[in-house]
Order: sequence, then structure tokens, then C-alpha cells
Amino acid sequence: MTEAWRPDGEDGRRGAGGPVKVRVPAKVNLHLGVGPLRRDGYHELNTVYHAISIYDELTARPGDTLTLTMEGEGAGELALDDSNLVIRAAHALAGYAGVLPHARLHLRKQIPLAGGLAGGSADAAATLVACDALWGTRLSREELAGIAADLGSDVPFLIHGGTALGTGRGEAVSPVLARPTSWHWVVGIADGGLSTPAAYRELDRLREAGTARPPLGSTDALLAALRQRDPRVLAAALGNDLQDAALAMRPALADTLKAGEAAGALAGIVSGSGPTCVFLAADEAHARGLARDLTAAGVCREVRVAHGPVAGARIV
Ligand code: C5P
Repeated sequence: MTEAWRPDGEDGRRGAGGPVKVRVPAKVNLHLGVGPLRRDGYHELNTVYHAISIYDELTARPGDTLTLTMEGEGAGELALDDSNLVIRAAHALAGYAGVLPHARLHLRKQIPLAGGLAGGSADAAATLVACDALWGTRLSREELAGIAADLGSDVPFLIHGGTALGTGRGEAVSPVLARPTSWHWVVGIADGGLSTPAAYRELDRLREAGTARPPLGSTDALLAALRQRDPRVLAAALGNDLQDAALAMRPALADTLKAGEAAGALAGIVSGSGPTCVFLAADEAHARGLARDLTAAGVCREVRVAHGPVAGARIV
């Protein structure tokens, strides 16, 4: 995996007294294959995660209690109490390591809430890395990933970053062998979020009704596409089993995907459970032009350019 986080590296030793600032990326799923519903309420996944250059930043400072403040995307909408995944992550790490969960945490959000980009999971991953350094608990990456998995299916990937295969309910992550290529994306952010559990339920409903497309299944074509450099080949291999569910819940996303296609995107898919749509561009200049045209089409709240893969949660 590129730019892997190393618990025994220089960054892992920092933290006596803080502040510790951690940057964490958003994720897209280049392939999101959803299997059957399991008895524990999760679906078996076969996914390829990809970290892109839209970041949240979490700063941890010493404190007498545990507090969280935030600015940016979703400020004023997101509860800052014990229901917040950041607070839950801090408690989980402190409980595991046997330390008091005392820190003043501040979150600067650029990843939209409930957008299908795993923003909440990213913040939880950032909290684990930041508090581990602030408190000097110095857990191994495996230990952090274990705590991460209990917080959410996407959280272990956001500690690793890069491009990685996710199996199980998504929490079992292994790096993907890929050429050291940067892929260029245009990210169309919609107004409002979509509920992830609701998107999975809608997919189950479509499958029961016999109106769902056949499941994507194997990641082989996508993994082969990552071993070469032509973005057109990658474009042809992108896929998301949750896309039709997201479109059923938010029909306007079809207009967003059409507008991206009309603007010349190599491919467009719904990211995760949506409603964010991501478009693959041929290169950086193409991405900028595409972003301009998609903005002009007026189908998104905001349009951003990004590249990937990038590192996971890291001290900066
Ligand atoms: O793991 P996480 O808490 O992020 O998952 C949120 C919800 O998404 C789960 O409660 C479940 O409804 C759905 N989910 C699923 N199968 C997965 C991952 C998530 O059904 N593999």
C-alpha cells in the first residue's frame, strides 16, 4: 500500500503534550459489490476502496475532560455529544489502552456529511491516530484497526488509505498492488445526505422484487484495470451495487450522472451509498474542465476536483 502509516515511525513517537494535528481523506469505492444480508444485519462486501484528496483535519490538545468543537461542512448540524463517532472513537481507544479519555478535539470538516464519502468514518480514524499520539498509547496499526472495525465498517480503511480491497462487512482491508498512478476525479456533492442503512435496505427491496441488476461480483476486472495506466480501462471497470438504490431514493442523481457524461467524463458513479457522484477524468486538466462544465450544469451543490490514491489518517 502506498504511503502506509507506521506506528513505529517518527510521527508515532510524537505527542507528549500535543497539540497533534491529523489529516484524513475521503474515500470512494471503485467497485462496491454487495452480497447477501448477513444474520448480524450487515451485507457481505467485495469492495475496492480508494482514498481521495478531500480532507478533514482533527486537532487534539490536552484537556481536563473530553470535548469536541467543529467548523466547516455540517457545523451546527452534527451532534457533538456521545453519539458523535469522534467521541466514540476517543472513548474506545481510552478504554482499550486503559487511559482517561481527556482531550480537547477540534474538527475542520471538508468532507460532506452523509455523502457516501465516509466522512464520519474518516473522523473516527483521525481521532484514533491523534489520541494515540496525544496520550502516548502507541498502539500497533493492527490494534488501531481492530478498534476501528468496531466503530464502523469503513474506519479501518481510513487508517490505511491508498487503494485497498475490503471484504467481510468492509472492515477486513488488504492493500491492492497497483501501478504508482494518480487518477483524477471530479466530485459532485449534492444538497443533503442519504442514509447508508436506508440505501442497503432499498437494495434488498429491489433484489426481493427482482428488479435489481445482477450483483457485480468479482473485483478482478477492477484490480486488473489498476495495474495499467489507461483511465479509459479503469472507467469501464468502475461499478457500484448500491447505485440503483441511491437513484431510487434520489432520482435527481440521474441528472447529475447524465450531466457528467455530457461534459465528457470517462465514467460517473455514485460514491458508496450516495448522494455524492464521482467522475473519472483523463488527467488533471480534463478534471478541471469537467468540473467547470458540471458546475455550469447546476446539478450539484458543489463540485470539487480530487486525485487519488492518497495516504490515510496521518499526523501533519
Ligand atoms: O459499519 P457502519 O456502522 O458504517 O454501517 C452503517 C450501516 O450500513 C449498518 O448499520 C448497515 O445497515 C449498513 N451496512 C451493511 N453492510 C455493510 C456495511 C454497512 O448493511 N457491509
